[in-house]
Amino acid sequence: MHKTVQILGKTFGLTFTPEAIARRVQDMAGRISRDLREKDPLFLGVLNGSFVFVADLLRSLDFPAQVSFVKMASYEGTSSTGMVRELIGLSEKIEGRCVVVVEDIIDSGLTMSRLLGLLQEYRPSEVHVAVLFLKPDNLKAASLPIDYALFRIPNDFIVGYGLDYEGYGRNLPGIYTLIQNELK
Ligand code: IMP
Ligand code: MG
Repeated sequence: MHKTVQILGKTFGLTFTPEAIARRVQDMAGRISRDLREKDPLFLGVLNGSFVFVADLLRSLDFPAQVSFVKMASYEGTSSTGMVRELIGLSEKIEGRCVVVVEDIIDSGLTMSRLLGLLQEYRPSEVHVAVLFLKPDNLKAASLPIDYALFRIPNDFIVGYGLDYEGYGRNLPGIYTLIQNELK
């Protein structure tokens, strides 16, 4: 396991080992199993960042579950509408179901807030959020139903275990933090 990695000239240092992540994922899967197994929840992974977490979390549940993936698409609308954000990939029936949204990281919370707003239009019976990382200092969106968070972290930039820097590093098995004020 490398202690540091270089991505596009920046140095990132190992913060959470794969073993530390695996222990927490096991704990979370146990809690979700106890809380929700009777509700036959539909797990909705948010691409791209959640793919590693979803794979590990879902295999650690103690019941057979359904999983699907969605993506938030952003595109330039007309000048009057500005940035348009849309939820794509949703093919399952959501109405009346218990849904668990699985996301990599909640920073300001604006992405999640928008996603949950769009999801409500499909009338789920209840919605829970399971997230790997939460940056509580940055959270602007109020009252998100974040029932399950693996790690609370300071306002640093991280990569690995699904998270990227400029598209790189999602495949790193550990979590690495950008080393600030690095002497060049
Ligand atoms: P939010 O809307 O500010 O909560 O931003 C959430 C999105 O920003 C996440 O889904 C990530 O794609 C990205 N993001 C925020 N912080 C980080 C980070 O530390 N590393 C990698 N991506 C991040
Ligand atoms: Mg994301």
